[in-house]
Amino acid sequence: MTEQTLTGILDTVWQHILRGTADRHHPARHPTLATIGPDGPEARTLVLRAASRSDGALDLFTDAASPKAAQIIADPRVALHIWLPKAQLQIRARAIATLAPGDPALFARLPPGAQANYSGAIPGAPITGTSDRQVGDASRFSLIRCHLSLIDALLLADPHQRAIYRASDDWQGGWVAP
Ligand SMILES: Cc1cc2nc3c(=O)[nH]c(=O)nc-3n(C[C@H](O)[C@H](O)[C@H](O)COP(=O)(O)O)c2cc1C
Repeated sequence: MTEQTLTGILDTVWQHILRGTADRHHPARHPTLATIGPDGPEARTLVLRAASRSDGALDLFTDAASPKAAQIIADPRVALHIWLPKAQLQIRARAIATLAPGDPALFARLPPGAQANYSGAIPGAPITGTSDRQVGDASRFSLIRCHLSLIDALLLADPHQRAIYRASDDWQGGWVAP
């Protein structure tokens, strides 16, 4: 594999992230979101819904009643991770997350099964068995917007290349030891 430039790697990162918002089979569709929980870090898979390179922001949906929502309110520092096997590219990011009500019109367009994800017992709470599907509660439909502060890209080329980009220096980026 040929060596990439700093700009080239960042362009590749954003191409994959943007594809993840549109292509349900692309691995960037399912980033891992890590939050700071009361007992330490917590990580889980979410669906990437939207992304803006110009704003340095990634959007995810979640249930306002879920523990991650409370964790973000308590401490908005989050991390994201994406592994792209075909591109041999690991994307790690740090962000400040905000939690806001989701768009009610968007919720109304979700199929009932997807709406039902926003209902019932708090995710992670003990239950006696598989719960019946419930009617979704639009007030629990929430948007997590991750305002990226840092992107760390590791390309498993030969030789490996790793670069860190910071919003604070306008995403210029710099090489670091892989
Ligand atoms: C493929 C996949 C996609 C998921 N997408 C979402 C999602 O978009 N939003 C969400 O809140 N949870 C999603 N989940 C469930 C979360 O991983 C997690 O189990 C749930 O949100 C509870 O997380 P918490 O207890 O840390 O709040 C998804 C899980 C998988 C396996």
